[in-house]
Order: sequence, then structure tokens, then C-alpha cells
Amino acid sequence: MSEKKLRVLSGIQPSGKLTIGNYIGAMINFVALQREYDCFFMIADLHAVTVPQEPADLREQTEMVAALYVAAGIDPARAAMFVQSQVPQHAELGWLMTTLSYMGELERMTQFKDKSAGKEAVGAGLFVYPSLMAADILLYQANLVPVGDDQKQHLELTRDLAGRFNHRYGDLLTIPEPYIPKVGARIMSLDDASKKMSKSNPNAGSYIALLDEPDVIRKKIARAKTDLGKEIVYDPQNKPEISNLMSIYAHCSGLSLEDIQARYEGQGYGAFKKDLAEHVVATLEPLQRKYKDIRASGAIHDILRDGAEKAMAVAETTLRQVKDLMGFLLPRR
Ligand code: TYM
Repeated sequence: MSEKKLRVLSGIQPSGKLTIGNYIGAMINFVALQREYDCFFMIADLHAVTVPQEPADLREQTEMVAALYVAAGIDPARAAMFVQSQVPQHAELGWLMTTLSYMGELERMTQFKDKSAGKEAVGAGLFVYPSLMAADILLYQANLVPVGDDQKQHLELTRDLAGRFNHRYGDLLTIPEPYIPKVGARIMSLDDASKKMSKSNPNAGSYIALLDEPDVIRKKIARAKTDLGKEIVYDPQNKPEISNLMSIYAHCSGLSLEDIQARYEGQGYGAFKKDLAEHVVATLEPLQRKYKDIRASGAIHDILRDGAEKAMAVAETTLRQVKDLMGFLLPRR
């Protein structure tokens, strides 16, 4: 008897250029998991508008993330790839999850605290963002959610909301598990290893964008801040900058941290950084080539339409069950 495949859902916001942090923390796991799981990968545009977006930029970036998914190796024949706003069940279950959420637990979210700090006017969407994210996951009854470290707290809230729903209304929603890589769950800024690498950082030298030209990548890595001393050792506490670069090296070369440490014993940062740049370029060049082909082919629209159809079928079933259990009067079929 064939066992039913477990389900995976994850998403990325189309709110700027994707970085190698998004790639290492999330996308490469999407690609790895699609072989064994029933996968749904979303472009989280409803999340992106929790901060103001230029309409033309939002459209362009949405297509960009979709094409990067395919370029990174997501196979639309295996995994459903879709745009969140094209599956209206997200907004609807998002509202229902908001009604289940407490102000106190939303106030505790560190991402909300970071994004609202020092701002005079903070959008209400930013506050209820985690309730929508819970809906994204629970609509698909996902077992596993591949994300970077910064999304862990949102996953915990999702688990709490699912448990609360099940307790109050009946056992329906699957409690999801986070899937967080051991190395690379938190790629840090190249100019400040106390901050995560982020596509919204105004200093472009702080991140490597997936679509950066090879020479730009080389320059950024050459200028990346490094710790005092010259040993290449993995020690995130005492050598956060070198450790961060080593994580990137490990992912782009396939070597383990120990191998890298051994390889550069007795050598300084210069040789290490030069090789690192070449590994990053060699990883991103084929991805960039594929990206350009996909954009030029226009195939992305068909892929997204098929993905939304597949997603909607699953999402509608869950939403109907949720509404029924909560006591909403359903239209007679
Ligand atoms: P977003 O768009 O900020 O980031 C997408 C994914 O990339 C990971 N990531 C990183 N990993 C390692 N190092 C970094 N520097 C780094 N920067 C980003 C993030 O952890 C994330 O996995 N709320 C989500 C999007 C979302 C979602 C969902 C995710 C909406 N609904 C449902 C999973 C399930 C976000 O803002 O990710």
C-alpha cells in the first residue's frame, strides 16, 4: 500500500531582491524536500503589502521570485508554485486566525518589534502578519515548514493557533513542524555580523543578491568585514564574521566546516575570501542563466496559474471544514 506523502508549505515575500540568505536558509531546502513531500511553495505578496510597495515593483518582484524558484530547481511538475493573492482562501482564513490570536502574543513577535521600532505610524497589517502566516500553513494541513531561523517564532504561534482551534472547535488542523537547517539558518550581514542578511537593508554591500553580477559578488566578498586575527575557524560566538562566511562557503562548495577549516590552516583571510567568491559565483551563475531563460520564455504565468489551481483545491477544502466547525452557515451545494 502506498503511504500518503507528508505535506510541505513555505513562502518568500516579493519585497526586494532575494539574497543568498533566502537561498541558503530556505530555497535549497524547498528543492531538496520536493522529491519526498507533497510541496506547496508560495510567493507571499499579501505579506509584502504589510509595508508600502510600489505597484509596478510588486508585480515585477512577484514574477522575479517565481522565476527564481524555478531557476533554483523547484520543479513545477512536482511542487505547486503559486501567488498567495491568487488563492483568496489565504485572506479569509487569515481573518479567522486573527480572531483566534491574542494582542499579547502578537506584541511579543520580535519581527513586529523590529519592523515597528521607531516608526510613528505602524500598519495594522504588520501586527496581524503572523496570523496570516498561520493561515498560509494551516490551509494546507502542512506537516513541515522549511524556513530560516527568523521565522521560528511565527511557527510557534502557528502551532499555538492550530492547537487553540482544535481545542475549541474540534480536531481538524495539523500541527506543523519547522524545518530549519543546522548551518545557514541565519546568514548574517556582510558589514555587521550581529544583523541577519536582509533584502531590505539600504546598504547593498551588506548582502549578496541572487542576481548580482559576478564582479559585484567578488567586490562585496572582498569588502566583507572580518574578525580580528587571521585564523579560519568556525566559532560563531567569538568569530561571528568568519563563521558567517564559512557557512556560505560550506553551502556553495559542498564542503563541511571541518574541511574548510583544514584547507585554510595557516593561510590568512585573503586566500579564503578569494576562493569563497569563486564558489559563490559558480553557484549563482547557472541559476542566473536559468533565471534569464525563464523570464524570456514567459512560462512563469502558466506555471503560476496551474499552481494556484492546485493550491485552491486543497485550501478550499480546509477552509470549508474550518467554517463549518466554527458555525458559519455554509451555502448548500
Ligand atoms: P522572507 O521573505 O523574509 O524570507 C524567506 C525565507 O528566507 C529565510 N531567510 C533567511 N535564512 C537565513 N539567513 C537569512 N539571512 C535569511 N533571510 C531570510 C526566511 O527565514 C524565510 O524562510 N514570513 C515569511 C514568508 C511567509 C511564510 C509563510 C514562510 C509567509 N507565509 C508561510 C513559511 C510559511 C517571510 O517574511 O520570509
